[in-house]
Amino acid sequence: MALHPQLRIFDDTASLYAAAATEYAARAQAAVEKNGRFSVALSGGSTPKPLYSMLAEKFPSLPWDKSYFFWSDERFVPPDHPDSNYRLARESMLSKAPIPGENIFRVQTEEKDPQRAAELYEQTLQSFFRLKPRQLPRFDLMLLGMGPDGHTASLFPGSAALKVRDRLVVANWVEKFQVNRITFTLPVLNQAACDMFLVVDKSKASALRQVLDQDGEAVPARMVQPETGELLWFVDRAATADLARAS
Ligand code: 6PG
Repeated sequence: MALHPQLRIFDDTASLYAAAATEYAARAQAAVEKNGRFSVALSGGSTPKPLYSMLAEKFPSLPWDKSYFFWSDERFVPPDHPDSNYRLARESMLSKAPIPGENIFRVQTEEKDPQRAAELYEQTLQSFFRLKPRQLPRFDLMLLGMGPDGHTASLFPGSAALKVRDRLVVANWVEKFQVNRITFTLPVLNQAACDMFLVVDKSKASALRQVLDQDGEAVPARMVQPETGELLWFVDRAATADLARAS
């Protein structure tokens, strides 16, 4: 259990994204050297977009053809919808790098029923990772963000998905946004070889304090405690405004 996350604080977002891209590249290279492939779960929202663009534009020697892309969560919207996490990654990275189409595993949000979309994505994981019953997939890298309320992926405080332990992927109704999301469950997040959070902006300061200072109730992002993997937090100075210890 990674009780002490590696916390890296950056004075500005440019240095944060440069370090995150370097970390991503090192893990991709190491995974390919060790296992012949690199499995990564991308996060959504706005924070990762500069990282995706930087990887596509400044890291041509990444093993793109041996990298396999998944999403730790997805909005239940068509793949070309402005809110789609798949569309975000496709426009900022996947369409700009030499990645074979069969290496990209998006959530089938064309399905009418979000539960069915979740089941299909779970089957995709089971097939790609050749999982035995009840076995968990181990991603080489799980990119994660955090909302101001401390949610991560689409595991929102108090939501049903947060309690699920016997599924890999579930549909989650998010009351505050009145939308359905498709999300990895906590056991999948905690099985990764590396969980890497990217958190920028003062709006995340209160949630970051709740996570890193173990302050108050355990928000979902604090529940990401990889079983045997590494836990990295890349945060900018603005997001550390509420941390108790001198930073
Ligand atoms: C999503 C993400 C979500 C995101 C946080 C932070 O689908 O929105 O997966 O967990 O990481 O909401 O979002 P921002 O990066 O936009 O602040």
